[in-house]
Order: sequence, then structure tokens, then C-alpha cells
Amino acid sequence: MLDTPSNRPDLPAEIARRRTFAIISHPDAGKTTLTEKFLLYGGAIQMAGQVRAKGEARRTRSDFMQMEKDRGISVSASAMSFDFKAFRFNLVDTPGHSDFSEDTYRTLTAVDAAVMVIDGAKGVESQTQKLFEVCRLRDLPILTFCNKMDRESRDTFDIIDEIQEHLAIDVTPASWPIGVGRDFVGCYDLIRDRLELMDRADRNKVAESIEINGLDDPKLAQHVPAQLLTKLREEIEMARELLPTLNPQSVLEGHMTPIWFGSAINSFGVKELMDGIGTYGPEPQPQKATPREILPEETKVSGFVFKVQANMDPKHRDRVAFVRLASGHFNRGMKLTHVRSKKPMSITNPVLFLAADRELAEEAWAGDIIGIPNHGQLRIGDTLTEGEALKVTGIPSFAPELLQTVRAGDPLKSKHLEKALMQFAEEGAAKVFKPMIGSGFIVGVVGALQFEVLGSRIELEYGLPVRFEPSQFTSARWVHGDKPAVEKLVNANKQHMAEDNDGDVVYLTRLQWDIDRIGRDYPDVTLSATKEMM
Ligand code: G4P
Repeated sequence: MLDTPSNRPDLPAEIARRRTFAIISHPDAGKTTLTEKFLLYGGAIQMAGQVRAKGEARRTRSDFMQMEKDRGISVSASAMSFDFKAFRFNLVDTPGHSDFSEDTYRTLTAVDAAVMVIDGAKGVESQTQKLFEVCRLRDLPILTFCNKMDRESRDTFDIIDEIQEHLAIDVTPASWPIGVGRDFVGCYDLIRDRLELMDRADRNKVAESIEINGLDDPKLAQHVPAQLLTKLREEIEMARELLPTLNPQSVLEGHMTPIWFGSAINSFGVKELMDGIGTYGPEPQPQKATPREILPEETKVSGFVFKVQANMDPKHRDRVAFVRLASGHFNRGMKLTHVRSKKPMSITNPVLFLAADRELAEEAWAGDIIGIPNHGQLRIGDTLTEGEALKVTGIPSFAPELLQTVRAGDPLKSKHLEKALMQFAEEGAAKVFKPMIGSGFIVGVVGALQFEVLGSRIELEYGLPVRFEPSQFTSARWVHGDKPAVEKLVNANKQHMAEDNDGDVVYLTRLQWDIDRIGRDYPDVTLSATKEMM
């Protein structure tokens, strides 16, 4: 069963074996460590510690990265591809900090499943809960890894109850921990009736695995101390009585999450989790689009941009658009239509992200993430297709919750500032509004830390010191309506009006009262807090 790559044998084999997912967790739960072990078992790196080591080397290059490191957050998301058994895994990294919810939201539009990592001592933490809610909006299947079982951790039933209660999802144990903290010896694999024993002496050693013929098998006593064994039998009996059994369909529908217990740093439980992602995780799913849904097995290639990262290498000023392929078999050099501009684009230098390295992508399939270097043509939400003009939907832009005025330290450099701001706006790092009256720009973000990140990046990447100042406005709404109705609103409220970086009309608000007033006085226009990325 484990090597069956797909629940949908009708899909082309290359698509059926793909699993595209993200890891969601609270900072410090072990996402980086788990990612590293995934890559290790996926053969993408030779030695544990390499991801971190490469990360450190990259980070020391700049203050901004230093800030990222100091804060313990990962500001830039990336994608990693690797093979595991019959599967091709595409792991899309989510930014870890709550300040980056919009970026995270968009990242989660590019995956078919999520792995939720929780710390066995801490349970469901705030950031996990928030990210989980985002996954739920899309009914993403979720597989859970309860990490750090080598440390003192909470009672297993407690952890499961907490997930069920806080997240309102059925939890079914895929493995069961034996002992806690110092006494933790390993797990009983409930799916395959196996005993997995953790080796504390060698962190990179894969657990010793012993076939067991049910809980009464005398072999158990040879490996598990008597006291722990009694407890294990009792707990599993109780678990089988009280907890739901694994229902793969329910997992795929996002109503049930299987939970594995382990210790990422000790390489323990990771392979079982990877097997689980392969077996219970979904293959590439249909993509919502207009005028019709896109199916992964369609022969014509299509994909959409969910992230743009500028200045990945400050020496080259390149921009990479991260594209999730929604259908077909992509080959390097292919000509695709850029649906927004209706122009053809030859994709000559697509990259695949293998561990921390980039590599030219000669080919890719639905489900894969490729990076397309470009000079700014590709924006978040854009669709590329080989066939008819389709537009992927559901990639929103949210109204910022914090606004500040930004000025260049040197007033003569305001053109440079505009250029830098536009670039960050296209990257999705901030909203930029140009008020219709007065000079300067208003920058809108979802979390306060983004101002700091932006300030550092503008200084670092453009050599331009900037100042952020408080703005009288607190939020922004996109204005929709007939041209005359919108003009009427604009002309009578110039001091509130601005254009966003796409030239769309925006109403800047101070209080909810402003919004209510517009609703009353201008019934022919609507103000909205989200905008579909075009
Ligand atoms: P994050 O990306 O989710 O923020 O977490 P990360 O992997 O960086 O792990 C956070 C800390 O938890 C790290 O310790 C890491 O070594 C530790 N850790 C991860 N998995 C396990 C585990 O299974 N057991 C135990 N006991 N610890 C684990 P650190 O001291 O912050 O960093 P480092 O000095 O070890 O790199």
C-alpha cells in the first residue's frame, strides 16, 4: 500500500506521484529541523546541518538577513523538490512569523496539503492555530507531526484532545509514543504494527524497526521495559476505543488528521511521516479558475504565480516568480501565454529548487513549483497557459491594517524611492498608495514588523535610507463602481483618495465611521477590503 503513489490511477504517473505541501507551525516547534531531515531522506543533501549552515552563510551577507536571523523568522519563502521512494515531494516553505499572514496565505494557495508540526510540550500554539484556520478555508488535508518527544512532553491523550478541541478536527494516531522525556524509547506504529526504536546515540540514524504481531507479541517485551509496556497496552486499548480510526477519505477532505509522534532532531518518526505524506497526502488537485476549473491531467500546460521574490541575489537584481504548475507537462523553452498581457513568453531559464540550490528545470509536471526569472512582467496572481486563456482565481490581496507615510532621507531621491516601493509592492511585500493630493507615498502592511523589513531592504538593496512617519489613515478600501459614481466619490473626497500600485482607486480611511459614511452617501459604489490579484 505504501508504494502506491496515487489514489487516482487515471492520472499520468508523473503527476500521480507528486505531493506538494507546506509545513505550518509556531516558531521553534522544529520546522527547520524537520525540513532538513526531509531533504536528508530525500537525498537532496548529504549531511544534516547543511540547510542551516547554508542559511547562516547567506544570512551573514546582509543586515536584513541578520535581522531575520535575530528575530528567528524566515522572511522569504522558497520551494524545495526532492524524491522519496516512489514520490516527488515539493515542499513550499511558509514564512514563519504572524506578521506575514498575507504572504503565507498566498503560499498556501500553491499547495495541496499541509504538515502541521507541534511541540509535544506546548501543544497547539497561536501561530499554528492561525495557519490552520487558513488551511481550513481551503479544506487542505493536514498531517500532524508531534515533535520533541525526546523531551518532557504532555500526555498523549491531552495533546490529541487539544488538537481536536482547538482546531475542531478529528485526530487519529498513526503512531503511539512509548515513555516520555528521558524514558522515551520510541513509537508503536499503529498502521503497520511495528516497533520503532529511537537511537539517542546517533541523531542521524534511522530508527530500528521491528515487525510486531499485535500488542500481545512476546517480542515487545524484549525491547520495551515492562512498566512502559503495560502502559502502552492500556493506552492503545483506550485509544482504539475512544479515538476515530484512520479514514483516508476523511483525511483528504480535511476533516481528519493522522498524527505521528517523533523527534526531528533525532531523525525519529520522520520517515514514517514521509510515508504518510505519500500514502495519505493528495496528488495535485484541480485548480479553481475562470471560466473553468483546470485539471492537472490536462495536456496543455498552465500555472500561476503565487510569489515574487526580488533581489534574491543583490548582485544581479534578478526577480524570480514562483509558479505552481496547475496542469500538463512543462518543458524548458516552452512558449506560454501571459494571460494578463495576452503576450507570449518563452520560458527559457526556469529553475527548480533542489534543497538550497537552484537548478535549470528541463521539465516539470502539474504540482511542481518552478521559478521563472523575469524583469517584472510576472506578478502575483498571474496565469500562464499553453492553451486557452484561463485565469486562476482565489489569490487575494488583503487591505493593510497599518499605514505609514514613507519619505526618502534625501528628498532628491524620491524617484528612486518610488521605483523601490513599486518593486516591493509587486513582490507583495507591502501595499503602496499614492495619495491624489500632496506628495510622498503611503505604505500599508498587515504587521508592524514589515515596516522594519521594508526599511532595511530599501536601504540595503537600493542604498536609500528612508523614514516612516505616522499617517492620519488607518486602513484602505478598494473602490468599485461605475465610472461616474467613482468619479463623484473621488472629486468630493480628494483628501481621502489614492491610487494603489496597479493604478486602482483606493479610499483611505481613518475610522470605521468613514466607511459607514461612504456607504450611506454613495450607494452606487462599494468599498472592499480584498482585491483579487490580477
Ligand atoms: P523552527 O524552524 O520551527 O523555528 O524550529 P527549529 O527547527 O529551528 O527548532 C527549534 C529548536 O528546537 C532548535 O533548537 C532545534 O534544535 C530544537 N529541536 C528541533 N527538533 C527537536 C527535537 O526533536 N528534540 C529536541 N529536543 N529539540 C528539537 P535551538 O537550540 O533553538 O537551535 P540549535 O542551536 O539546536 O540549532
